[in-house]
Amino acid sequence: MKIGLMGLGTVGTGVVHLIDQNGRNIEKKIGEKIEIKKILVKDPNKKRTPLAEGKITFNAEDILEDEEIDVVVEVMGKEHPALEYITKALQKGKHVVTANKEVIAKHGKELIKLATEKKVHLLYEASVGGGIPIIRPLKQCLAANKIYEIKGILNGTTNYILTEMKEKGLDFDDVLKDAQQKGYAEADPTDDIEGFDAARKLAILCMLAFNKFVLPEKIYTKGISFISKSDIQYAEEMGYTIKLLAYARIDEKERLEAWVHPVMIRKTNPLNGVNGVFNAILVDGNAVGEVMFYGQGAGMMPTASAVVADIMDVKNHIVIQNGCEEVDLIPIEDTFSKYYI
Ligand code: NAP
Ligand code: HSE
Repeated sequence: MKIGLMGLGTVGTGVVHLIDQNGRNIEKKIGEKIEIKKILVKDPNKKRTPLAEGKITFNAEDILEDEEIDVVVEVMGKEHPALEYITKALQKGKHVVTANKEVIAKHGKELIKLATEKKVHLLYEASVGGGIPIIRPLKQCLAANKIYEIKGILNGTTNYILTEMKEKGLDFDDVLKDAQQKGYAEADPTDDIEGFDAARKLAILCMLAFNKFVLPEKIYTKGISFISKSDIQYAEEMGYTIKLLAYARIDEKERLEAWVHPVMIRKTNPLNGVNGVFNAILVDGNAVGEVMFYGQGAGMMPTASAVVADIMDVKNHIVIQNGCEEVDLIPIEDTFSKYYI
């Protein structure tokens, strides 16, 4: 499988490293080798991982016109030119994997239609929840349910900021800088702190869970930039934690309610314990009941985990199809220490 990687920032670098690190395992699972053939970047002066040597290009056409490349992985971010590149890749009959919530939230409907017409995959697991599996569970595992409600913490940067302000008494701006250095924040961090990133993710979840398309700008959105340390302390004294919540539900008339804004969360609520860069999403379905998804919502390797799994899924990977060896278990005495967790 030959990949054209568009973007070599936080996520792109994670993808290159993960394929290098787990390549043999991945190869065993999908039955073929993944080779990153070309990597598109913008800035000729940036220092790159040695794994990218000889692969860098500054011209998207080098990837889009390369007949050998069958999968385009878009991890550049922003709406343009990512939308145009994804569209062209699909038109050319290439599979596309993307982590771009802005493009999927705003143009997912037509891109999915195009991918279906061209009989190629368009996969976007990393667009919501970073490393947390949520897109595929909604599309597949929970598909038989009528989903009533989705609520969750969908932005790692803001959750990290609120957690650090509460636990360490740090200032908003200092924690934001830290989140940027850790690679959690969007290119324009306003998207995180004003809630736009969470609204885009919520729009994607609405599409999958309720089969309803809503533009993210129509979702009532208020971020966390107005929250002070003393707000957080007062909430704490009252037994609450402030979190940026994304909420959507379908009412009895099939109307959609969706919003993003800070909420006081009781200590007993499972979302109260979701700290730092972690995200959590609660889905309420009529057959399954409530299901909670939890994990790292941003960052290099958790996000790469979702992107590389999508690349593997392009080949409809089923582990068992490619052979699964029968093994003996570790003797039970060695595992006794693990009974206390
Ligand atoms: P990033 O660190 O800013 O990296 C962006 C990369 O794309 C850079 O390598 C940049 O090139 C390249 N690029 C941007 N515009 C380009 C253009 N017009 N032509 C060529 N190359 C271009 O971004 P990121 O954090 O990796 O995020 C990438 C995507 O993943 C975004 O859609 C983001 O929302 C999504 N995502 C991120 C995370 C996360 O934790 N960071 C998690 C989930 C999803 P240069 O290196 O030359 O500047
Ligand atoms: N900026 C995003 C966040 C990246 O902090 O959640 C993951 O989508």
